Amino acid sequence: MRRAMARAAVGDDDYGEDPTVNELQHLAARIMGTEDALFVPTATMANLIAVMCHCQRRGAQLLLGREAHLHVYEHGGVAQVAGVHFQALPDLPDGTFDLDQLELTIREAHGSRYHPRPELICLENTHSSAGGRALPLAYLQQVRLLADRYGLQVHMDGARLMNAAVAQGVEPAQITQHCDSVSLCFSKVYSHGAPWARWKRHKLGPAFVQGHGAWGHAPSLPAGTGEDPREGCRQLRITSFLGLQGLGAPAGAVLAGRREFVAEAWRVRKLLGGGMRQAGVLAAAARLGLEHAETTLRRDHDNARRFAQGVQELNSPLCSVNLTAVETNIVLVGVKGDWPSPAELCERMQAVSEEEVAETGHAVSVLLFPWSARSLRAVWHWNISTHDTELAKNKLDFVARKCQEKLALGLGTSPWSTGGD
Ligand SMILES: Cc1ncc(COP(=O)(O)O)c(C=O)c1O
Repeated sequence: MRRAMARAAVGDDDYGEDPTVNELQHLAARIMGTEDALFVPTATMANLIAVMCHCQRRGAQLLLGREAHLHVYEHGGVAQVAGVHFQALPDLPDGTFDLDQLELTIREAHGSRYHPRPELICLENTHSSAGGRALPLAYLQQVRLLADRYGLQVHMDGARLMNAAVAQGVEPAQITQHCDSVSLCFSKVYSHGAPWARWKRHKLGPAFVQGHGAWGHAPSLPAGTGEDPREGCRQLRITSFLGLQGLGAPAGAVLAGRREFVAEAWRVRKLLGGGMRQAGVLAAAARLGLEHAETTLRRDHDNARRFAQGVQELNSPLCSVNLTAVETNIVLVGVKGDWPSPAELCERMQAVSEEEVAETGHAVSVLLFPWSARSLRAVWHWNISTHDTELAKNKLDFVARKCQEKLALGLGTSPWSTGGD
């Protein structure tokens, strides 16, 4: 990927003259079955642009899920920047809306002089907070019919659209046909061949615990020591704060739709400062990610399922997984009981100890994300192999056993007994 970036032909994309960006846009539009597509720096910007293009009247209202990325993690840009009012509906466990409730909400406001005007429905596919669930095609069709009945537009936050397509065994265009616009993200974090993933382990160095995100994808060695304290430890970053990672490019997203929509999106991108110049270096990485999406994501999905099955087989009183909910590259692990909490379990998955090496023969640090009061989240991406997945599963087995031993001794729940052992 880095070679492709280095070799990319570039031009000034703000003048439409970057050949690599243009190729990427054509490819993305073809894959998504849309007339056109626009390269933008992030999926957050793609979503905001979409809302700004669809909701141009003051008092316009956007309907979206309470747990949607757009609602929770994008700083309310649709309100702050676009001046759009949003109505957040409860998401069902599979990431869908209750269609009756959706219709009721629209009908209440439809034609009313007293309500904001509902103009846009935003869907998220796959649905991140639901654990990477792919929205059923029949559901998408019903949302489309509903939107048409009341004259609304449909935008899909398809940051992980390709995961949905791979999971459902359909062309992405079969999914996007029900939408007026769709965003797709090419990042995040780990590009193909990131150096840390290649570190070979042969001895256990001093234990390390770093905060999430403390290591970038090209970590530098500590100055002066000549030695990496992390040497000897296999670190598996099966995590992501918000977690897409799938296509493995360092940055970038596209927003796709009809030709006039994309022309308007170009203007809004400019307004938001998202017009880039020699963006071909980024587009080259994105294109590679897109071209390999099917193989990469299928492997991620298989590994995620393998891990989830492993968690189920552990049959541990501390954690569980709902296998039917594992459809793509995300696994939500339920954490049971009062101790350890998801955050504590994540810390233990990350920490390495002499005891671990003595018992398992490996020093493995797994970065997971405490997702809710009762769950943690694991996200698969390009850099996590099937072997890594096996190591992560074994690590969870080890950690769960150690926690149970502590609990049996009555130590676990005491606040001062959770630290370094
Ligand atoms: C569903 C969803 N939409 C949008 C985004 C935003 O992506 P970006 O970080 O490129 O702005 C994310 C990021 O994780 C996401 O999960």
